[in-house]
Amino acid sequence: MDLAAEASPGLTFFREWLRNPFAMAAVSPSGRQLAALMIEQLPPHTQRVIELGGGTGAFTRALLERGIASRHLLVIELNEALHQFLGERFPDVHVELGDARDVRTIARRCGVLDPSGTVDAVVSGLGLLYMPRSVQRDILRAAFAVLGPGGHFVQFTYGPISPVPRPLLRELDLESHRAGLAWRNMPPANVFVYRRRNTPG
Ligand SMILES: C[S@@+](CC[C@H](N)C(=O)[O-])C[C@H]1O[C@@H](n2cnc3c(N)ncnc32)[C@H](O)[C@@H]1O
Repeated sequence: MDLAAEASPGLTFFREWLRNPFAMAAVSPSGRQLAALMIEQLPPHTQRVIELGGGTGAFTRALLERGIASRHLLVIELNEALHQFLGERFPDVHVELGDARDVRTIARRCGVLDPSGTVDAVVSGLGLLYMPRSVQRDILRAAFAVLGPGGHFVQFTYGPISPVPRPLLRELDLESHRAGLAWRNMPPANVFVYRRRNTPG
């Protein structure tokens, strides 16, 4: 069945939330205001991006509209039905079924990395706030292994503070800043940017 043609993103998302509320971490896809705020956090001159937890493609669409070439965009999604939906909706993008913790291996296999083996940004739609610290650690370690020196890890959260706790940031030698609030999103969401400590820009 052609899922993308048969169902709207909202309906598909809600159906998968009913099946697996913990992994989905939200009942509906992110809205346009949140997607725009996420994309604004890309470093200048960004060319290559990895998206974690693509869902039904709210951020994928915004990344393509921002001018990221589909061959330079990798989307990793754990849920089989959503992976199929994304693949049908964005046939030219690298859409991979897999776990964000394996981002290094998946990115190498897809050929999305630049000659130095990195990308400019990771855009995360994962429900990081609801994940155990050990999983957060694995995901951030793997993501920063493929992020260039000035690379940004962009994350949203429904909470008021960073979903990655301070001790873990210190352990991984990362710094964070809150980029803003998408107040029109349902529910409103804060956007955080994580970078290696003491990197310029
Ligand atoms: C809160 S939803 C966000 C979806 C979409 N980015 C958006 O903002 O509308 C989280 C997504 O992450 C996916 N996900 C959860 N754990 C994952 C993991 N370990 N690796 C990859 N994707 C995962 C879920 O299946 C779901 O599609």
